[in-house]
Amino acid sequence: MKTQLLNEHQIDEAASLLQAGEAVGMPTETVYGLACDAFQPDAVRKVFAAKGRPADNPLIVHIAALSEWAPLVQSIPPLAMRLAQRFWPGPLTIILPRSERIPAVTAGGLDSVGVRFPAHPIAQAMIRAAGVPLAAPSGNRSGSPSPTTSAHMMADMDGRIPAIVEGGACLCGVESTVLALDDAQTVRILRPGFVTPEQLSEVAENVIVDPAVLAQLDPNAVVRSPGMKYKHYAPKAEVMLVNGDLPHFLKAVQSRCDSGSAVLVFDADTAACEQAGIRAIGYGDTDEERAAQIFARLRELDECGIQQVYVRAPRTDGVGLAVYNRLIRAAGFRILNAD
Ligand code: TXA
Ligand code: MG
Repeated sequence: MKTQLLNEHQIDEAASLLQAGEAVGMPTETVYGLACDAFQPDAVRKVFAAKGRPADNPLIVHIAALSEWAPLVQSIPPLAMRLAQRFWPGPLTIILPRSERIPAVTAGGLDSVGVRFPAHPIAQAMIRAAGVPLAAPSGNRSGSPSPTTSAHMMADMDGRIPAIVEGGACLCGVESTVLALDDAQTVRILRPGFVTPEQLSEVAENVIVDPAVLAQLDPNAVVRSPGMKYKHYAPKAEVMLVNGDLPHFLKAVQSRCDSGSAVLVFDADTAACEQAGIRAIGYGDTDEERAAQIFARLRELDECGIQQVYVRAPRTDGVGLAVYNRLIRAAGFRILNAD
């Protein structure tokens, strides 16, 4: 099967494929997703198969109007509704107990479902044209960096799915913030994303960042979000995350770098690294720039044949928390404290 690249004028073709139970690449404002009819168990199985994704890792269900949410869940508590009104359409996924409309396979066997109303006009048009909510995980092969362009998705999925809809480069670049409600005032962030804890605090009295966001899980711990337990976002190169200011960073990596190594640093740091004789790749100067670039840079490392990369860690507030979370997973929790 050759994977077709469709454009925004071919949404009806994409919708026909989705209605026929096929999996189709869909651009969103976060990353490209691999979409299917959330109500067709066989279509959902195709998505799991194309990604090579473990069956216990649930899919996010995407809607294109607030009114499409209620039929998918048991009920919508006031806090969830306030979050939706503030952040939808946008990069936020809200987990609630699922209704019987959601097949068990879509939910990875859990009794809950994460729902998101994406902001990307092509994603919205695909959902509307298909006439059903679309289940969509990120469009990468399981374990690889998420795709933020159609070319990245094609590299992972060519020959595995019938089509990808072109939608340009994704603006956010990291996936949605995934949260659950602990009680009427408390949200628990299971995966940080483009909506920050600081922004969520404007709507919820208490915002808890789940311990699994920044730390390696005890293999015996109960996992709230199954995606947390898998190695993720990883290029073939060995990644090491380095905490510290630029002088300490340079001191720590200089002796470790050889001809197969590179550093991934803030744009402002690249000149100093090159001067020190180290191959340097910039990944932006602000948290938002780093979010938009991180997955593309991780893919580039492999294209350049780099075997080992030292990454200067971003801050852990704002959107930086999401970038840090992706990087520690890409690094398999190898962290060096240089300060
Ligand atoms: O921005 C995004 O969220 C993108 C675009 C395509 O919408 N989607 C995405 O999906 O990143 P995926 O499947 O790659 O990541 C979803 C994460 C996984 O870690 C999964 O375990 C978690 O959310 N998740 C989904 N439904 C859940 C549920 N019911 N309970 C707990 N965790 C859930
Ligand atoms: Mg993913």
